[in-house]
Amino acid sequence: MNYQELYDLSLQARENSYCPYSHFATGAALVGESGRIYLGCNVENSAFGPTNCAERTAVFKAVSEGERRFTAIAVCGAPEGKVPDKLCAPCGVCRQVLSEFVDDDFPVIMYDEELGVKAYPFREILPFRFDLNEY
Ligand code: THU
Repeated sequence: MNYQELYDLSLQARENSYCPYSHFATGAALVGESGRIYLGCNVENSAFGPTNCAERTAVFKAVSEGERRFTAIAVCGAPEGKVPDKLCAPCGVCRQVLSEFVDDDFPVIMYDEELGVKAYPFREILPFRFDLNEY
């Protein structure tokens, strides 16, 4: 599976986005070390706070099925009804959640119409990560 194919799966995941409040639809496709792929979308809530991002949906699906190490994630997002054309980078909470299960060189794949599909190493999107296991 190449980066473009994984990104296309994130677009597919985005089709299930439940975003009646922000009208911003997101999708994620996460690859486990087993080779299994976990799709996620954002799931919003009328109380706003319980909203879950696409990335965390994918991570929680995977971990709850016994997968704990990951080799790549693709992420996409744009206003509902629009084809994503700008980078949609994981929020801070999702970066911290991913950080539990990925290495510094874990590729975070995003698309931008000028740059195309591109992989960003995890260390670039979360420098100085907090890891309790280091103390
Ligand atoms: N969202 C994600 O799913 N992933 C991100 O990393 C950024 C934000 C969702 C949360 C909310 O449903 C909508 O996008 C607008 O913030």
